[in-house]
Amino acid sequence: MLFKGKTAVVTGACQGIGAAIAKELARQGAQVVVNDILQSAATDVVENIRMAGGKALPIMADVTNYAAVDAMMAETVHCFGAVDILVNNAGAVRDNLVLDMPESDWDSIADLCLKGSWFCSKSALGYMKKNQYGRIMNIFSGAWLGNIGHSNYSAVKAGLAGLTRALAMEFVRHNITINAVAPGLIDMPLYTNQREDVQGQLTTNAQPTPYIGQAEDVAKIVAFLGSDNSRYITGQVIHVDGGKSLCCHSE
Ligand SMILES: NC(=O)c1ccc[n+]([C@@H]2O[C@H](COP(=O)([O-])OP(=O)(O)OC[C@H]3O[C@@H](n4cnc5c(N)ncnc54)[C@H](O)[C@@H]3O)[C@@H](O)[C@H]2O)c1
Repeated sequence: MLFKGKTAVVTGACQGIGAAIAKELARQGAQVVVNDILQSAATDVVENIRMAGGKALPIMADVTNYAAVDAMMAETVHCFGAVDILVNNAGAVRDNLVLDMPESDWDSIADLCLKGSWFCSKSALGYMKKNQYGRIMNIFSGAWLGNIGHSNYSAVKAGLAGLTRALAMEFVRHNITINAVAPGLIDMPLYTNQREDVQGQLTTNAQPTPYIGQAEDVAKIVAFLGSDNSRYITGQVIHVDGGKSLCCHSE
């Protein structure tokens, strides 16, 4: 049990990669807060964890609202005693070629993926610093290296690299590590719901591994980075992408 006695908050965890991460951390003994803006689906994930013998709590909070985030961290500490692990996973895409992209699509992705991660980290780090212990994993994307139709998403995910590195430097002396996990193509709605032309140029033809990844492939790496096995790793980006980042971004 890697996480016995530890508490994890996973944002955007009612489905997809976030749900897989919440289940994996709970399977390995963590008490998990399943955060999302979708109440009923988060409750399903919590039920699933409880049925498997784990401990979980659903907390509805919009990560783009600092007061809601702060209340979520306070409730986590009230119910479970600490925030040891934070996974900034909540995300979305609003794809378009830049000439067709409205400003609102830039703002909504920047607010959700970048400011939301900063809000959650800022709030959780107060508790982590007090305990002199913490693990934060930012869920990124291989798109930080650039993708056509992803000017908002790529820029924001690249910004998350800077946030990861800056916070890692700021908190390393407090026994808090902060890393980023960059999934490649994962068999989840965020990939499968993309516009056909964008999805087409992301196909597995452009990566060495002849299959796309599963959410569990990402969850296992997050569990490693969230554990004490990774205590000497901080400020890093780990690509979980079947080698896609080795070749398709070189043109
Ligand atoms: N699926 C992929 O192929 C892929 C690839 C690379 C990176 N990613 C990244 O992985 C993460 C999860 O992706 P996914 O495919 O599981 O996506 P998903 O759309 O299935 O899940 C995202 C979750 O975030 C929640 N959410 C949205 N706005 C929120 C808010 N304001 N506050 C709280 N929760 C909110 C949604 O309700 C949803 O449950 C994202 O950060 C995404 O950028 C996914």
